[in-house]
Amino acid sequence: MSITFQVHRRDGAARTGSLATPHGVVETPMFMPVGTQATVKGLTPDQIAATGATIILGNTYHLTLRPGDELIAEMGGLHRFMCWDKPILTDSGGFQVFSLTSQRKITDAGAKFRSHIDGSPLELTPEKAVEIQQNLGSDIAMVLDECPPGDAPPDAMRDAVRRTILWAERCKRHHTRPDQSLFAIVQGGTDLDLRAECARELVAMDFPGYALGGFSVGEAPAAMHVALPTCAALLPDHKPRYLMGVGRPEDLLEGVAAGIDLFDCVMPTRSGRNALAFTYDGPLRLRNARHRRDPAPLESGCPCYTCGHFSRAYLHHLFAADEMLGPTLLSLHNVAFYLRLMADARAAIVDGRFGLFRDRCLARWHPAP
Ligand code: GUN
Ligand code: ZN
Repeated sequence: MSITFQVHRRDGAARTGSLATPHGVVETPMFMPVGTQATVKGLTPDQIAATGATIILGNTYHLTLRPGDELIAEMGGLHRFMCWDKPILTDSGGFQVFSLTSQRKITDAGAKFRSHIDGSPLELTPEKAVEIQQNLGSDIAMVLDECPPGDAPPDAMRDAVRRTILWAERCKRHHTRPDQSLFAIVQGGTDLDLRAECARELVAMDFPGYALGGFSVGEAPAAMHVALPTCAALLPDHKPRYLMGVGRPEDLLEGVAAGIDLFDCVMPTRSGRNALAFTYDGPLRLRNARHRRDPAPLESGCPCYTCGHFSRAYLHHLFAADEMLGPTLLSLHNVAFYLRLMADARAAIVDGRFGLFRDRCLARWHPAP
């Protein structure tokens, strides 16, 4: 077994824990910054580590297209290639095939599609997704799954669940790398019966960790918040639970309350590139002219490098002048904010005041009208 997971403290369904991997220990609940193309956009590995991140995410789909997983294996694996020696989780490519490619054809055999880079025809099978991730050498690999859009008709949703179960079994059978763990993914949208069926089949296969996929795919955030406690409770209590591709700060707090341990999302880096900063006082748009002469940091009390050195006026100027340091400094703050939110959530769980912490955050971010 290449990972171990221990739950330490509980507060309602929320829990803290430690996830030990071959590249180090991750305290949970934890947020994983997204490094799709073997880089967390705009940040050096030293800067990523300085935000408090201890695990990042990479993408099978992008890396097999470019530069190629065999090339990365030749260069010593993904950790060495990108100079990140802490844990890495790789997504399987299932989600990217559905969100990025054209002319896809999904059968039980696998997914046939055209590359979003040059249009060349490609095929991803469960076995291929495992081989690619074994070449990348991530600490945690994900099974190939089918993630339908939130508004998919019921029979499409049922078919996706059936195929996700079939593919999970094939991934597990094909997976051999001893220093890598393979996590399963539960699909089923907001249909709780389908979720339960999918979870039951996957739990019977005894994976070392489980993810909830198929959220934040166009459904209302409230529908996800309602479904999360039930869906999280379908997963083994003593194994790590990962909510894929979620979300806004408030969604992370709802996930933690439901008993989720791991999250990933492009939001802190993508928003950072778009001059949107997250803070405990709510979001801040740095392109807004009201920041032109503002000497304050993005967020007072934030220990990040950006807030320790620069004014809102300077950050406003960087975005107005289209300077590349603007996206870097905002991405740095945003990732640090997400990591601080998780550290504060862990401390609140340990103190038995997580419910209060969550309610106070939500009241600040969504004041009653
Ligand atoms: N990232 C966000 N949602 C999903 C999902 O449902 N499946 C996979 N593989 N990755 C995701
Ligand atoms: Zn900051």
